[in-house]
Amino acid sequence: MAKISYRESHKYEGKGDEYEAYYQSKTWQRFLWSREQEIILRILEKYFTGRDVHLLDFACGTGRITELLENRVKTSTGVDVSGSMLAIAREKLRRTEIIETDITAENILKPRKFNLITAFRFFLNAEPELRFAAIGALAELLDEDGYLVFNNHQNSGSPWIKLRNAHYRKKQPDGVLNVMSIEQMKNLAEGAGLEIIEVYLAGFFHPPKVPVSFCLNRAIDWAAGKFNYLNRFSENLIAVCRRKKNIKMELLPLSTP
Ligand SMILES: C[S@@+](CC[C@H](N)C(=O)[O-])C[C@H]1O[C@@H](n2cnc3c(N)ncnc32)[C@H](O)[C@@H]1O
Repeated sequence: MAKISYRESHKYEGKGDEYEAYYQSKTWQRFLWSREQEIILRILEKYFTGRDVHLLDFACGTGRITELLENRVKTSTGVDVSGSMLAIAREKLRRTEIIETDITAENILKPRKFNLITAFRFFLNAEPELRFAAIGALAELLDEDGYLVFNNHQNSGSPWIKLRNAHYRKKQPDGVLNVMSIEQMKNLAEGAGLEIIEVYLAGFFHPPKVPVSFCLNRAIDWAAGKFNYLNRFSENLIAVCRRKKNIKMELLPLSTP
């Protein structure tokens, strides 16, 4: 039987409400969301202070990321293929142009340009064909001096994800838990002419069945975030990408003796 594309996964009635409830009820998700907000705002300050921001939130879903940003940017656009998810986004968002479309099939946003593109909780779960189509379409919409920010919430380098994967395979030998490594994130970006310039960790310590308080998790993230090389062990990663700079080889005149 042909596998259904991730494009279809959030389209059923009620999915938007389900997704909202998931974020509000799960302790780990609430912790991750608090860290993601901090990091996104830090990125905004670091790369966009003094600049007008034109935001595209790709696969915006119920508008989680868009809502955080819409009052901090000059223009805000959200796209998604799911009417069910967008129905919730429409209730929340006030300053965002919301478009139900699949830019991987037809990039109707061309020739517009955006200098901040966000794509959260999308690439990990999208099948390879959709991943590459999406990042290609986004690269076409990214301004010359713009940044694409995306996350990977099941980093295969994390010991907790390794454990969960092993457990999952034991229970479902034919099943596949979606995981993605930092190298795969880099390859994804590079395939679209982009380069990852920074990676932030959010959600470093997540041992299964061990309750860890919100405050302790924050302290661990804060300490682990001081050492770049620890990124590869974090469960959730946030990458900042920009266009790969072309190094122009200048032809120097031949020197005469
Ligand atoms: C897990 S949700 C993430 C929503 C939001 N970005 C967030 O972080 O809360 C993934 C979203 O990707 C959307 N999606 C799947 N394929 C898509 C495509 N080709 N174009 C736009 N959105 C797509 C789904 O409809 C769903 O709303």
